[in-house]
Amino acid sequence: QKKISIAIDGPAGAGKSTIAKMISKEMGIVYLDTGAMYRTVALKAIRDQINTTDRDSLSKMVDSIDIAVNYIDGEQFICLNGEDVTSKIRTPEISIGASNVAVVPEVRIKMVELQRQIASKTSVIMDGRDIGTYVLPDAQYKFFLTASVEERALRRYNEQIAKGYKDISLDNVKNDIEYRDKNDSSREFAPLSKAADAIEIDTTSLSIDEVAQRIINIIRKEM
Ligand code: C5P
Repeated sequence: QKKISIAIDGPAGAGKSTIAKMISKEMGIVYLDTGAMYRTVALKAIRDQINTTDRDSLSKMVDSIDIAVNYIDGEQFICLNGEDVTSKIRTPEISIGASNVAVVPEVRIKMVELQRQIASKTSVIMDGRDIGTYVLPDAQYKFFLTASVEERALRRYNEQIAKGYKDISLDNVKNDIEYRDKNDSSREFAPLSKAADAIEIDTTSLSIDEVAQRIINIIRKEM
């Protein structure tokens, strides 16, 4: 079977990771969550008491850290200097921190190198902000998922509540998402944007299954 690459980009809460995971299972290809890498850099910065907006310190720090992804039964685990940090990178603080560190070119260059390395070896479905525009501009399939900010905030809020976080409010989640939208779209280096050849899907009033099925149909039709 020919190696394929699928890029799924879009803002936080548009459904990228859930849908990419479903498609990865259905098609039997690797799913790479690139956001987890920026989250891991943010975790390291916070642990080292480096301000996530301190570009100079971050560009030095990223030079000396080792980030690796492993797969167990198709599930992605992410390691920071050999430590599995998968369960430690989903807090609201890390979400904002990830968006801050993702502005720094040195950080991005290192993460993108790892992402391209993985995609060079195997078929992948990769989700992020710059996959179709920058990481894998030659990907055969590119999708850009969007949804209204209200809907995205509600999805994230419900997700966090289901995970057992209690001290969050819908308003805070919405503010965090708006902060990241703005930060991610306005940065200079590889900002969040739709590739000219990406298919845009507004998921606001669609179910996860409907979106996944739509994408799978498009891929199968063209294969
Ligand atoms: O997708 P996720 O919410 O885990 O991403 C966390 C942050 O990492 C995003 O807000 C964005 O700033 C950054 N990111 C990025 N490029 C990617 C993936 C994530 O800049 N390809």
